[in-house]
Amino acid sequence: MGNQVKRKHNIMSQSTYTSVVLAQRPKATIVPGETFTLKQNRMISEADLKDGQVLVETLYLSLDPAMRGWLNDTRSYVPPVQIGELMRGFVIGKIVASKSPSFTPGNYVTCSPGWTELSIQDAKAVSLLEVPPHGKVTDALGVLGGTGLTAYFGMTDIGRIQPGDFVAVSGAAGATGSVACQIAKIKGATVLGLAGSDDKVAWLKELGCDEALNYKDPEFREKFKEATKGLIDVFFDNVGGEILEAALSRAKPHARFVMCGAISQYNNAKPVGPKNISMVIAMRIKMQGFLVFDYAKEYPAAKEQLTQWLAEGKLQRKETIVKGGLKAAEQALMDLYNGINTGKLLVEVKAEDAGVESRL
Ligand SMILES: NC(=O)c1ccc[n+]([C@@H]2O[C@H](COP(=O)([O-])OP(=O)(O)OC[C@H]3O[C@@H](n4cnc5c(N)ncnc54)[C@H](OP(=O)(O)O)[C@@H]3O)[C@@H](O)[C@H]2O)c1
Repeated sequence: MGNQVKRKHNIMSQSTYTSVVLAQRPKATIVPGETFTLKQNRMISEADLKDGQVLVETLYLSLDPAMRGWLNDTRSYVPPVQIGELMRGFVIGKIVASKSPSFTPGNYVTCSPGWTELSIQDAKAVSLLEVPPHGKVTDALGVLGGTGLTAYFGMTDIGRIQPGDFVAVSGAAGATGSVACQIAKIKGATVLGLAGSDDKVAWLKELGCDEALNYKDPEFREKFKEATKGLIDVFFDNVGGEILEAALSRAKPHARFVMCGAISQYNNAKPVGPKNISMVIAMRIKMQGFLVFDYAKEYPAAKEQLTQWLAEGKLQRKETIVKGGLKAAEQALMDLYNGINTGKLLVEVKAEDAGVESRL
């Protein structure tokens, strides 16, 4: 690039902006080109704002395993996304125009406008993003955002982690799992991380996991039995399915099972549960699901703690950033279920010349 001056693209000079809507409910996995459709919308501007509203340009879109569940027309913790409706999603954005005293153009923010390049938001639904020392903008959707908070509350409040516990974490090299492993280490536990590639296993050892295993290894079952010979006190489960079944078979009496997610089942037309669920009775296991949103009032204190650990070098994080704008989001979401990511998966919706650093 040399000294060449890059001209910043200004979305407000466009006549339309892009969003992504649900076109068809998938029966199992998302079908590229069928499940979602790109939509061009009439441009919006400062003139469309009412008092108390802001105009937000999306910079990064968070891709979350839960998104697959939001496409099913079933009862859950949020209503399903409707056909023809904007796909739901959390973003990091930049204020383009403001009719709220709380925000000025140029502020970085987080909000939930969905898969869209531009949106009008009530200022109350937008949070100012302040980058702490040693942090970066994209942490707001990762280690200092929803996934970091999920790991924090799951491990501390549901898992009630104690020094000396033996903890196993599935989906350990993902956004939530990698933070969960490190919190368990900070709290004095011995940690076994489970992930889907040798590279991820190597990273988990760099993070301080005492042991890490690739669950795709043909000898995984035997290696898992050996690694858990002292049995499991706390199992932090992101995956469900066969790995949950394996963990149940190795649970200590009165073990705590933190039911965070079940990604192995999200794309199954007929999800299956563990065959040995009766181990919950035999071992008097406390198995508890939770949603991070239940802890909203405690977010500020938890963020403060996570920020401090980050500054002290006790927490490390990775992120996988897919470039290509919103049109790359559908494939990237499919790739999330295939384990493309180490750490947090984001789509770069708008490349900025300066201010936001991104890395693959
Ligand atoms: N309860 C809550 O409030 C809450 C909040 C956020 C997230 N969650 C849940 O936490 C889990 C992790 O979410 P995240 O956002 O941090 O995603 P993530 O772990 O960063 O990404 C998903 C990872 O899941 C693994 N995976 C995919 N299919 C799998 C399978 N069949 N078996 C085993 N592993 C599989 C892949 O890694 P590998 O290469 O290792 O397979 C993939 O990288 C999800 O289940 C999600 O629903 C719950």
